[in-house]
Amino acid sequence: MNQGFSIRCFRAEDLDSVMSINLECLPENYSTYFYIDLYRRFPKTFLVAEVDDEVQGYIMCRIERGFSKLHTFRPMKLCHVVSIAVRKPFRRRGIATALMLEAMRNGRYEYGAGECYLEVRVSNEPAIRLYEKLGFVKVSRRRGYYLDGEDAWIMALPLEEGKIF
Ligand code: ACO
Ligand code: ZN
Repeated sequence: MNQGFSIRCFRAEDLDSVMSINLECLPENYSTYFYIDLYRRFPKTFLVAEVDDEVQGYIMCRIERGFSKLHTFRPMKLCHVVSIAVRKPFRRRGIATALMLEAMRNGRYEYGAGECYLEVRVSNEPAIRLYEKLGFVKVSRRRGYYLDGEDAWIMALPLEEGKIF
């Protein structure tokens, strides 16, 4: 199943690789401090994917106290996927799926998150398909969420006992 890649936790020495993958793949970019802060606070949900000992993908999340996106007024911990990307030549071999599954497992079992959620550009079909394949549903649309004015879908998935866990 796993086509020549492995998933492991982020380490400080991966920072340059992760930041360059982010710059290559997404218009939403972050400071060094932002990455290190997420790593320090939520190390189990900051993961990288390696192919031949080189980092080619990452996921980073923030565990938040808040309210369920799926059940009104239900307070819970949420695993917020802040950013995920895989370098272009390494796409469509299941790397993002594996990163999401491991981050969600750790979000649930290490940090007690009851739900996973994220924002995604309404035009980002590959990512929306990835999330829908994992069982995420669109819960709301945020008008003008991105700096260039594009809308975001908020998508969410309960982290309950289920087929992917
Ligand atoms: N077109 C259609 N469906 C796609 C595509 C695509 N280009 N890419 C992925 N999918 C869907 C498919 O259903 C795929 O399953 P299949 O290959 O069996 O058909 C499924 O997603 C799983 O694909 P993976 O191989 O696990 O995903 P991949 O490793 O290629 O990474 C990702 C997907 C992360 C979206 C990648 O395309 C990428 O890095 N894009 C640029 C960055 C980005 O958009 N990140 C997400 C932003 S939103 C956020 O970060 C919260
Ligand atoms: Zn977000």
